[in-house]
Amino acid sequence: MQQKITIQDILNKKKRKEKITMLTAYDFPLAAIMDRCGIDMILVGDSVANVVLGLESTTQVGMTEMLHHAKAVKRAVKNSLIVGDMPYESYQVNINDCVKNAQRFINEAGCDCVKLEWFDKCPQVTEAIVKAGIAVMAHIGLTPQTADKLGGFKVQGKDADTAKKLIEQAKLLEKLGCFSIVLECVPELIAKKITEELRIPTIGIGAGVYCDGQVLVSYDMLGLFERFHPKFVKQYVNLAAQIESAIKQYKQEVIESKFPSKEHSFTIKQEELNKL
Ligand code: KIV
Repeated sequence: MQQKITIQDILNKKKRKEKITMLTAYDFPLAAIMDRCGIDMILVGDSVANVVLGLESTTQVGMTEMLHHAKAVKRAVKNSLIVGDMPYESYQVNINDCVKNAQRFINEAGCDCVKLEWFDKCPQVTEAIVKAGIAVMAHIGLTPQTADKLGGFKVQGKDADTAKKLIEQAKLLEKLGCFSIVLECVPELIAKKITEELRIPTIGIGAGVYCDGQVLVSYDMLGLFERFHPKFVKQYVNLAAQIESAIKQYKQEVIESKFPSKEHSFTIKQEELNKL
């Protein structure tokens, strides 16, 4: 029988050179399927802002939304490690709130750890949360919460100077006690260098095959998010097209009184009917 995945299991996977799998989930049904499939880590990502809530920026969701979705995921998951993605407001607006908010992900939503994105005060925030006994996954490279400061949604570390900064950030975050690091939109050979130089696992998204693991936004890889398609996303199924076809069929069957058939209807005995 499969057992609950721990932080130590994730660290051991790197030692054994076994790839780590991570996907985002925001609700009960999808999280249950991922857990059943043996996905190592489920990220309740602040990408919920874009792919579920139709907002423009991940900075538009806060603790209320994130805890609401994290609780739904927690109800479904038996084995996967649940990562709560700390929203912008919870640690970048007032860094003094970071520990209290990280604790809410663990104590109220039942997450196993939190993830936070690099920004200028990231080392202080990381240190404080780790000291409070909470496992932290870091996120460097393209950090959507502060994308405007990075020149937009662009690949990061494409020249020696910026690549060096990424390598330094990764090493510092490992030293501060993070148990893994997401590398988003980084040239694959820079991701390879970081992966080789760290003891903790790297989880890539748009960072090539040499990372210790991979993560994708589930709505992207399932073909449910149609607004834009980043180059790094592989769409494994087009669920939007399948759902569209099912809804059109339902609509037609209702219009033609083909649904509901007897199979989907309830009966009453004739003698009861006669009493009316
Ligand atoms: O919120 C999210 O989905 C993420 C992934 C892109 C790693 O942070």
